[in-house]
Amino acid sequence: MSSERVTTAYFREAKREGRPITMLTAYDYPMAKLVDAAGIDGILVGDSLGNVVLGYGSTIPVTMDDMVHHIKAVARGVSRAMVVGDLPFLSYHLSRAESLRNAGRIIQEGGAQAVKLEGGREIAETVQAMVAAGIPVMGHLGLTPQSVHQLGGYKVQGKDEAAAKKLIDDAKALEEAGVFALVLECVPAPLAKMITEMLAVPTIGIGAGPHCSGQILVTHDLLGLYGGGGPKFVKRYASLHEEIARALAAYREEVQSGAFPGPEHSFGMPEEVLAGLARE
Ligand code: KIV
Repeated sequence: MSSERVTTAYFREAKREGRPITMLTAYDYPMAKLVDAAGIDGILVGDSLGNVVLGYGSTIPVTMDDMVHHIKAVARGVSRAMVVGDLPFLSYHLSRAESLRNAGRIIQEGGAQAVKLEGGREIAETVQAMVAAGIPVMGHLGLTPQSVHQLGGYKVQGKDEAAAKKLIDDAKALEEAGVFALVLECVPAPLAKMITEMLAVPTIGIGAGPHCSGQILVTHDLLGLYGGGGPKFVKRYASLHEEIARALAAYREEVQSGAFPGPEHSFGMPEEVLAGLARE
């Protein structure tokens, strides 16, 4: 694997050559370093930040300042992967100028190489303006969590013919507007396959089956950092919740019993200094 920075050209070539693209999320420096060192192609600083790091019930409260703060930390930890920063709720809807300013902040202040935003044909002109300003844009269709209240919950999208046709139309509009890749979240696998085959740009699936050009998961889900079962599409590769809980309880017990700290964790001092202190 080359250590060269992953670019939009890498994404394009990977799709053309049939090499699956790997993406994960990260929100801070240590996790960004681990994900980058694992050879993952793209790191999304997602607004899932709100759910998995900031303790909100949805992505809606996340602000531009929250995003920039976390993108900066991630960018400092990454040398190879492409860093993609999410544009949060309502940061690309109020005016063209404000949308461009916010996308610019993600790149210029945050140090990301691309932005991601949610929506279809209705935001195509905004995407076009960002691309014209030199900002690579990743689209996001299907379950778009910023619209959770409109969608009526976190559900699979595009299941009936009209909804599937709208997704296809939105995907075409985003490609025409210039996105370099498109996230498909919670979309039936056969529909994601159809969209992937229809587009020249790669699709990145999450709950969208095996036929997308690449896959993304929320790293905290994959690592099992929270107890309990996650969504159907998550595969847990570790159970860190249990491991961390065990380590924290062991620490508490050893402090309470006096087993920690032991001599190997303590600093001594010369006997003559101690003797001098005792004479005082
Ligand atoms: O915010 C996020 O983490 C995302 C991914 C789930 C694609 O949008």
